[in-house]
Amino acid sequence: MTGGPGKASRAEVGTGVATRDSVGTGVATRDAATTATSATVEGERRQSLGAKGRRTATSRVSGVAASRRCRPLPHRWLRAGCRFDADLAGPGPGSVRPVVRDVSPFDLTLDQLRLRTSAKWRAAGPDVLPLWVAEMDVLLASPVLEALREALDRGDTGYAFGTAYAEAYAAFAAERWGFGGFEPARSAVVPDVMLGAVELLKLVTGPGDVVVVTPPVYPPFYAFAEHLGRRVVEVPLTADRRLDLPALADTFNTAAARGPAAFLLCNPHNPTGTVHSAEELASVAAAAEATGVRVVADEIHAPLVLPGAAFTSYLAVPGGDEGFVLVSASKAWNLPGLKAAVAFAGPDAAHDLARLPEEVSHGPSHLGVLAHTAALRHGGEWLDGVIAGLDRNRGLLGDLLAARLPTVHWAPGAATYLAWLDFGDVPELSFAVGSGAPSRGDASARVGAAAWFLEHARVLLSSGPAFGPGGERCARLNFATSAALLSEAVERMSEALARAG
Ligand SMILES: Cc1ncc(COP(=O)(O)O)c(C=O)c1O
Repeated sequence: MTGGPGKASRAEVGTGVATRDSVGTGVATRDAATTATSATVEGERRQSLGAKGRRTATSRVSGVAASRRCRPLPHRWLRAGCRFDADLAGPGPGSVRPVVRDVSPFDLTLDQLRLRTSAKWRAAGPDVLPLWVAEMDVLLASPVLEALREALDRGDTGYAFGTAYAEAYAAFAAERWGFGGFEPARSAVVPDVMLGAVELLKLVTGPGDVVVVTPPVYPPFYAFAEHLGRRVVEVPLTADRRLDLPALADTFNTAAARGPAAFLLCNPHNPTGTVHSAEELASVAAAAEATGVRVVADEIHAPLVLPGAAFTSYLAVPGGDEGFVLVSASKAWNLPGLKAAVAFAGPDAAHDLARLPEEVSHGPSHLGVLAHTAALRHGGEWLDGVIAGLDRNRGLLGDLLAARLPTVHWAPGAATYLAWLDFGDVPELSFAVGSGAPSRGDASARVGAAAWFLEHARVLLSSGPAFGPGGERCARLNFATSAALLSEAVERMSEALARAG
């Protein structure tokens, strides 16, 4: 078991003492150094202050660093994220000693979350902790909520129009990564990332042509390509979860000799959280250029690259000009129910994108476009809070696994909130892992270790075999939730194994 790079203590569900100087406008800490081991009063927040020479300001009150007092809370989400727990609020009447329990954006209670009607919360019984599908347990970023409210107040519920979404993504990418290559003039709004992938694959391949994927990989990569009548060819990731560049080059050669072919690249990679380096992507681009294989890069998780790693878009690397990139605010701002995404073409793929049929633009939801655009334009600070929370959760999960599930292997990813757990050395599960190969491509499959934990621990994970070769021993855990739920899930899993042992 490997610990997370950003270790966090379980005391993140805080015991710190805080006073509120006035409702919703500020928080002052008092005696925190003596009462808290790691109570984050304002959470970690980083403010990006401009494109060039980006400055970040991190404020954190934790243990010894608790001297900072009275800062205004910058956004409504932070206020929503602060819990002042009356039951723990101090010794007696009149005492103003509310306790900040957890100011991460993931501080939603199970009761609040169970009111949700989305797939994550309704696919299993009410006694199950759902840590499967890629939804986050967060409230909406306030700029998104405001954009939606304003649109509804206007009765602005018609069809999507224009390039505002693409322009917002281009500005976000320039500000966040210093990359100016997302050109709205070479973009198309699409219903969502996967339907966008289907449309792009239709532009550059025909029935029976090869689509290369790199398993273990997001199951719909199989399902959508096969439903489209394409032949999926697998080039598994290496043992250290990186692209197998020589094998990709070989496969491109073989596939291109038969006819048109495409590579569906996941950048960053779901489920391992691998962030492909500029050199790796350039190597893919060189092989693609040499063979004529067309690259369709799904970059939906790009804004969720965690501290310690740097994102590179496929369009940013030499040779990437013939590629396509699919982007969306859906994962990073938790908007999958507000359908919209954007396809960008490299300079040498623009003529192909221009062949996208008009009806594709009918698919995205106008409210989705407005929400995603607002997220990208005004949700940067909210995203920074989410990233800081995910970084803490990544560390917390490492600690929890080490303490309670020591035979589970996990190499923490550099991006996303998805943990790819390997149960191959868990003796109690030896009968369960490896089963379920026919479920390849089925994101809702309940097989292997995930099926066992659902039955015995009432924790729902995504089934590893659905992700293709390399997934037989694994299950995927979504850690975009509160520290309390994450701890409870690991505890349930540990207890279930103890009962089975
Ligand atoms: C890699 C990847 N691509 C696409 C999607 C789905 O995106 P959309 O809902 O925009 O199709 C997901 C969802 O988890 C994903 O992880």
